[in-house]
Amino acid sequence: MKKVLVTRGIFPEIVAALSGRFEVEHNAEDRPWPPEELARRLAGKEGAMSTIMDRIDEPILAQCPGLRVISNIAVGYNNIDVAACTRRGIRVTNTPGVLDDTTADLTWSLLMAAARRIAEGDAFVRRGEWKVAFGVQFFLGQDIHHATLGIIGMGRIGQAVARRARGFDMRVIYHNRKPLEAAEEQRLGVRWVERDALLAQADFVVPMVPYSQATHHLIGAAELAKMKPTAILVNSARGGVVDDAALVEALRAKRIAGAGLDVFEGEPKLDAAYASLPNVVLTPHIGSASRATRVLMCNTAAANMTAVLEGREPPNPVN
Ligand code: DGY
Repeated sequence: MKKVLVTRGIFPEIVAALSGRFEVEHNAEDRPWPPEELARRLAGKEGAMSTIMDRIDEPILAQCPGLRVISNIAVGYNNIDVAACTRRGIRVTNTPGVLDDTTADLTWSLLMAAARRIAEGDAFVRRGEWKVAFGVQFFLGQDIHHATLGIIGMGRIGQAVARRARGFDMRVIYHNRKPLEAAEEQRLGVRWVERDALLAQADFVVPMVPYSQATHHLIGAAELAKMKPTAILVNSARGGVVDDAALVEALRAKRIAGAGLDVFEGEPKLDAAYASLPNVVLTPHIGSASRATRVLMCNTAAANMTAVLEGREPPNPVN
């Protein structure tokens, strides 16, 4: 039987199904393995189901000559050196499609929470500070309905975010290297604009791009300076797409009104200043974290790995 590694704790029924085909080593205790331990456990395996926490690079690959496939349980794969895998003839796969709606839901949760100061209000009530029942200027936030939503990156998840704006009668503008077909724009009710125009016009700015050298600090001090002082930034794409130090500064100076963040540079360690800022809502990288979607992601990753090890083309190849 071929040997495979599952680097984090996944659903037992999926491990059971895999065990019918492969000899499975499963990290059931779900303790993240340091690189040396990951390399040691990967050695001798032909397949791996990995997560975005597993940095799989040349030094690790050099210790695993038998590896044939790395199946990431994620749509993003910036944890894997894909070029190094390709050089070694190792297939890399991901899980696109199955998490679009769940990630768009979370993006909207952050957008709404930041706009209407939900986390701040919740903390205020819990601290027992709510002494006066009502005030005309009490806890004022931003309207979502009829506002302008600006999405940078109009792939599957960006489109799912845009579709949800219809219920709020929003104007949706987007920027993408390549504009969508006119019919597609019409179907989604979105309009392409230059990036600077998006930053200047949007009440909500949502980058929805994969992380790469090209998207590193896509939103930095210069971009934040172009946004409206009433604008809210929402990042559920990847840490590193937003320059955290610049955002902290912009929030502190009230250069923009607020932010909703699910991803951070160097997560889980984040800029300590975030925790002291009232105008930011923070969640711990849970964009795709619904049970149904995580089961779908694991099943998709299992199908990809199985296909490669059985000599078939995987449904979701990256290389
Ligand atoms: C992804 O799929 O890339 C998420 O960030 C991890 O679930």
